[in-house]
Amino acid sequence: MIKKIGILTSGGDSPGMNAAIRSIFIHSIKNQFKVYGIFDGYKGLFKNKIKLLKYKNINNIIDKSGTFLRSSRFKKLKTIKIEQKIIENIKKKINILIVIGGEGSYKGALKLHNIGLPCITIPGTIDNDIYGTDYTIGFSSALEVIVQYIDNIKYTLLSHKRILILEVMGRKCGDLALYSCISCENCYIVTSKNKFNIDSLIKKIKKNKQKYSIIIITENITNIKKLSIEIEKRTNIETRFSSIGYIQRSPKPTAFDRILAFRMGYYAIKLIKNNITGTCIAIKNNKIIHYNINNIKNK
Ligand code: F6P
Repeated sequence: MIKKIGILTSGGDSPGMNAAIRSIFIHSIKNQFKVYGIFDGYKGLFKNKIKLLKYKNINNIIDKSGTFLRSSRFKKLKTIKIEQKIIENIKKKINILIVIGGEGSYKGALKLHNIGLPCITIPGTIDNDIYGTDYTIGFSSALEVIVQYIDNIKYTLLSHKRILILEVMGRKCGDLALYSCISCENCYIVTSKNKFNIDSLIKKIKKNKQKYSIIIITENITNIKKLSIEIEKRTNIETRFSSIGYIQRSPKPTAFDRILAFRMGYYAIKLIKNNITGTCIAIKNNKIIHYNINNIKNK
């Protein structure tokens, strides 16, 4: 049976998703597999937005963030009952689905795989919150944005001897906060893992003789405006707050993310060549590996 591979990107887009699509395409063509782009994520899969990809689609995309297939959050997928008829219809166009996305997208793939649409997942999210992989595609690029932001902002903090509370993305995962803290100086982190203790944080900041401090905090933990008021009151040091926002999701993908995307795309096609589906692709100790999709859990 001729292999007809569908690719969709789902959830929050991440830099390097385009590079992953490109890699899947290039390696598929070498094996005479057909590649279909599914537009608008899972929503597009059910609305039949499936188009055969050609070389022209993947030209000039390696350096672009976002995803040219576009993405969406399709929460209904978790709960809706998908009739077999729908799966059979989809299978007339594609017989294997590669999903590039984060945690929620993985759960969608698991559901589809278990009702008869063979799936493979590739971790694409800036959050680095996927179980089983050391890195996700997009994490390195987002981290670079945060580090550059800190490198640039510290001189104004220094000039005013201020404290800054800096909120970064990550959903529930503190990796962006942790890695950026290690990459810069005079930073303190608050993540959901390192149990937020305001007394000890204030003690550490008071001891800092470097004239500025940055508290890097993962989103969704606390109200940063209220926190800045409290810290200013208790330290007697002017405290400002700032949230980096969506720019973290939109930079040019770093070389690391492009290479990771290339390797994972290649690996996905290698699995398909060997008739292996129902798997999640990951990187562990710099080796690309896969594990059974039924084993997905929260990181
Ligand atoms: O999952 C990626 C992410 O950027 C998270 O870091 C953030 O919490 C979320 O997406 C934002 O989602 P939305 O684009 O739906 O606002």
